Amino acid sequence: MFVIRSYLPTEIVFGVGKLSELSERVKTLGKRALIVTGRTSTKKTGLLQRVEELMRKVGIDTLVFDKVIPNPISDHVDEAAEIVRREKIDFIVGLGGGSAIDTAKAISITAPNEGKFWDYVPVGGGKTPEKAIPVVAIPTTHGTGTEADPFAVITNPATKEKVGIGYRNTFPILSIVDPEAMKTLPKDQTVYTSMDAFYHSIEAFLNVKANPYSDVLALDSMRRIVTYLPVAYENGEDLEARTNLAWASTEAGITETLTGVIANHALEHGLSGFYPEITHGLGLCITGPYLFEYVFDHTYERLARVGREVFGVYETDEKKAAKLAIKKLRDFQEMFGLNKRLGELGVKKEDIPAMAETAYRILKGVVVVTPGGLGVKDLEEIYTMSY
Ligand SMILES: [Fe+2]
Repeated sequence: MFVIRSYLPTEIVFGVGKLSELSERVKTLGKRALIVTGRTSTKKTGLLQRVEELMRKVGIDTLVFDKVIPNPISDHVDEAAEIVRREKIDFIVGLGGGSAIDTAKAISITAPNEGKFWDYVPVGGGKTPEKAIPVVAIPTTHGTGTEADPFAVITNPATKEKVGIGYRNTFPILSIVDPEAMKTLPKDQTVYTSMDAFYHSIEAFLNVKANPYSDVLALDSMRRIVTYLPVAYENGEDLEARTNLAWASTEAGITETLTGVIANHALEHGLSGFYPEITHGLGLCITGPYLFEYVFDHTYERLARVGREVFGVYETDEKKAAKLAIKKLRDFQEMFGLNKRLGELGVKKEDIPAMAETAYRILKGVVVVTPGGLGVKDLEEIYTMSY
């Protein structure tokens, strides 16, 4: 039996060349916009200038906040929120990878309410943001799914807590997903962001709340990534591959909204909260297969379906098919050098208990929907297996 709860208020405009529709779509949102982006890449590719131009064309003044870093931090959210308040900004455009869009979402609930971002985080002040400024998302990566979900992942550099927030008013009002904007994504980012999307889908598929609505998207998304990531890796300019990966990411974002991720994302947040230099997509690939082995007895029937329906495993025995699924996943990751160990990335063994405790405390919500009912000690065990 299953339950489906669906609230997907974002207008998604998807397809090659669709960025050209930006002017038309935003002209009713106001007169002043803040574009939130990273420090270099959208300037280097000319995308930032193009977006500014498209807004100017319909009489919208733009300001740019370009300090966003990978694993974005709450200090930058607070700084940009001050700009939004002072400059009377009507809407925010998140332009870039998940970091830029998530920062835009975080600013959108901080600026119109009182105080700082951390006041609106469950492990911080715990307040629910009453008001929000509209956010337009223009992703340049195909991984986070943030264009189709309400979530923002922000790190508090002082406490090393990397939290995910999501409210009814933190969905983008509009997302323009244009694979053309992803053509220049470097090889490593192509891999990391695609694997992030893969894990959103596989985790949603294994989630105890999985349902037919998210299953169909999750399986389709995983299949597209397995088929097209090697193609885009070889030739980043291949628009057919980029389009399929972009749609896989958006599908995965919808599965996150409908069902959500499980403990692998908590493990990753525990890890990169302590070691922010470890990329999200890589962290997921390190602990993911060990988590699936750890909860194998509770989820082998679903893993067997991943084996058959994603990796083309031909095996009628459920447990054997499930084992083959994990093996195929490791083989796929191996193609891109993703089967690293925590030890070789400079993680200190003595940090594991604190990482596990933090992971559980800040993302308990995704741990408890993992098959097998995990606790802090189990997370510690999975980190140790991955070490
Ligand atoms: Fe993720």
